[in-house]
This record gives sequence, C-alpha cells and structure tokens, in this order.
Amino acid sequence: MTATRAAVLVESGRPAPYADSRPLEIADLRLDPPGPGELLVRVRAAGLCHSDLSVINGSRLRPLPMALGHEAAGEVVEAGEGAEFAPGDHVVLAFVPACGHCERCVAGRPALCGPGARANGAGTLLGGAKRFAAPDGTRPNHHLGVSAFAEYTVVSARSAVKIDPDLPFDIAALFGCAVLTGAGAALYSADVKPGDSVAVLGLGGVGLAALLAAKAAGASTLVAVDVVEHKRDLASRLGATHTVAGGPDATEAIKDVTGGGAEKVIDTTGVVPVLEQAYAATRPGGTTVTVGLPDPGKPVTLPALSLVAEERTLKGSYLGSCVPRRDVPRFIGMYRNGNLPVDALLSDRIALDDVNAGFDRLHTGEAVRQVITFG
Ligand SMILES: NC(=O)c1ccc[n+]([C@@H]2O[C@H](COP(=O)([O-])OP(=O)(O)OC[C@H]3O[C@@H](n4cnc5c(N)ncnc54)[C@H](O)[C@@H]3O)[C@@H](O)[C@H]2O)c1
Ligand SMILES: [Zn+2]
Ligand SMILES: [Zn+2]
Repeated sequence: MTATRAAVLVESGRPAPYADSRPLEIADLRLDPPGPGELLVRVRAAGLCHSDLSVINGSRLRPLPMALGHEAAGEVVEAGEGAEFAPGDHVVLAFVPACGHCERCVAGRPALCGPGARANGAGTLLGGAKRFAAPDGTRPNHHLGVSAFAEYTVVSARSAVKIDPDLPFDIAALFGCAVLTGAGAALYSADVKPGDSVAVLGLGGVGLAALLAAKAAGASTLVAVDVVEHKRDLASRLGATHTVAGGPDATEAIKDVTGGGAEKVIDTTGVVPVLEQAYAATRPGGTTVTVGLPDPGKPVTLPALSLVAEERTLKGSYLGSCVPRRDVPRFIGMYRNGNLPVDALLSDRIALDDVNAGFDRLHTGEAVRQVITFG
C-alpha cells in the first residue's frame, strides 16, 4: 500500500468560482500495489485540461467520486509483473490505454482502442481494477486511466510512454494530452502541408499545440482565433500570421484573410456553434477537423449540400489520431530541435492544493496550460 494525496471530484456541476465551491477535494488515499501489467508512478507534473473541467462542470458525465487528471509525467516506482518498465524510468502518461490486441489497435489506431474506451468509461484501469481506496473504504474511480492530480498513481503500462530522463517533467507532462491532441490534429487529422492556409479556433493548450504543429508543417497563412485577446497575442508571437477575435464575425474575418476560406480549419473550442463556424470558414475542397469535446447531447447543423458539391471533409480527431509510443518521442524530438516550442503553452506552475483555483483560471480563460508540480 502507498499513501497518496489526490484531488478527488466528489460532485459535478458545482458553480464557479471553484475556489469557493471546491468540487475537488484533496483527499488522503491509499493505493494498492500495481497488478500485472501495471505501474506505480510517482507523478511529478500534471496539466489542467479542459476535458477535466468538462467533468467538473458536468458537461461530460463520469462515474464519481473520481481521482481527476489525465495529462502527466512522472517516474516509475514499481512495475507489476510483465510490465516492461523499470523503477526510475521517466514516463509520459497518455489518456487512452491501448490494449494492443483489439481490431483498432492492430489497425494502428490505438486512440480508438475498444477495451481502452470501455475502461475509461467505467472509471477503471485497462484490466478492470480500481487501485485507489479512501479511508471509508470507497474506491474512487480512475480518470482516463491516469488520475494524475495525485502524488502517486497506478496506471496500466499501456498508458505509459518511456521518455528521456533529461526532459523537465513540467514540459514532459504537456505531451500527454495537449501536444498529442493538438499537434496530432494538425499533422495527422488535418494533414497540414507546406503552403496550406490553416485556421485554428480556440487557443488553449490544445489549440496552440495545433498552431505550432501547423507552423512546423509549413502552413503559409496561419489564422489564430479566440475570444481572449492575450491568447491571440501569444499566438502571434508563436507564428500566427493573422488573428481574429472569436464571435459572430469570425467566419467572415477568416474568409477575408484567407481569400475565401482556409484549406484546413481546426476547431478546438468544444463549442458547437464554433464548429459550425469552422466548417463555414473552410474553403471548398478543404478539411475541417474538430477536436473539441462538446456536451454529448448537442447536435451539429451543417449545410449538407456543401459537403458533397464542394467536396468538403469534416473529421473528428481523438488523441490527435496519434500512436503515443511513436508520437510522444516524435513530438519531443520536434520540441528539442526547436520546431515545436510547446514550453510556451505552460502558463503557470501550481500546487495540488491550488487545483480548484486553477480550474477557475481555465474556466475564465486567464490561463493557457497550468501544470501542478509535485516535490
Ligand atoms: N479530442 C481529444 O482527444 C481531446 C483531447 C484534449 C482536449 N480535448 C478538448 O479540446 C478542447 C480544448 O481543450 P483545451 O484544454 O485546450 O481547452 P481551453 O479551455 O484551454 O481552450 C479552449 C479555448 O477556446 C476558446 N473559445 C471559447 N469560445 C470560443 C469562441 N466562441 N470562439 C473562439 N474561441 C473560443 C477559449 O477562450 C479557450 O482559449 C476541449 O473541448 C477539450 O475537452 C479533446
Ligand atoms: Zn486533455
Ligand atoms: Zn485495443
């Protein structure tokens, strides 16, 4: 048994400010030892993502109580039987544990792993276990197989990617969600090519990672859209050629600066009307990619004729369509050679006890990517 402090979501839908309503309780939990194929990980850094916020505010329902957090880097403390890691290994944790055997894993699409999705939906590890225990005997659920807002966590080895030990943990954590998702959306889902015109709607951690990757891929016109001015300013510093204020006029503004619409448009807002704008701001023949995770009950309305007559493509992108064991090292390599300066996404380092206030800063748009650092 390992003792750990962890941020546990006890109830979703409590009102902001979260610093007052405190939906996340810092609890003293115990962790079972890792089972076969599992790892005990000392978490060293964990990022705050909008997908956590969506569970907190109730737009994504997950089984509660849940030890939240799904973007992290840490150090292996103990490897269960058959887990191909050793104590001391530095790892990035990805939010889909890929079984490696199901039809979609075998087809090279681990982001769509069937057993991984079922475990994530049920709040268990890939093998079905729950490893956290509260003093009253309840078993908090795992968040996306990671549960990173904790000093220690147990994960399936299928959630972990080994990384070089010299990468700082606070930067490494970003690769687990924001960078895989955003860079993957640009490079794989949108397939940005040199000379493309690209628009990115939403400039949080995911959107800015998409913007950086689109730039690295050679986009010539790069339009950055957000309702928050300081995020547009940051996007300019990171290479956006144009910025557009989010809102009803954004579609026309994108069309203006791209001569009739961008070839690739990436929506990372999780706001359905913005996805509709993204589609409208894509030029005929172009591709609209959506990464945002809106309220599951909300439908999207699109002019169906244009999909056919203008040969448009609309694509969803989960985990950036990445293969984490291939792409975490690949994107870290791009970071190291200066082509993907994702350290610019890291806006704040905070303490575990400050997690509720951190979600206030994400909710209001004040922060880009905040990372909880441990010890
Ligand atoms: N598909 C995946 O695999 C995956 C992975 C991680 C996150 N997500 C989802 O991606 C989305 C982005 O995540 P994030 O952590 O970067 O969130 P974030 O909150 O940091 O960023 C979202 C941005 O959208 C902006 N925005 C909101 N309304 C807008 C509007 N009308 N016009 C323009 N911009 C607007 C916000 O100001 C904010 O900067 C979320 O929905 C999250 O749940 C998806
Ligand atoms: Zn995330
Ligand atoms: Zn699988």
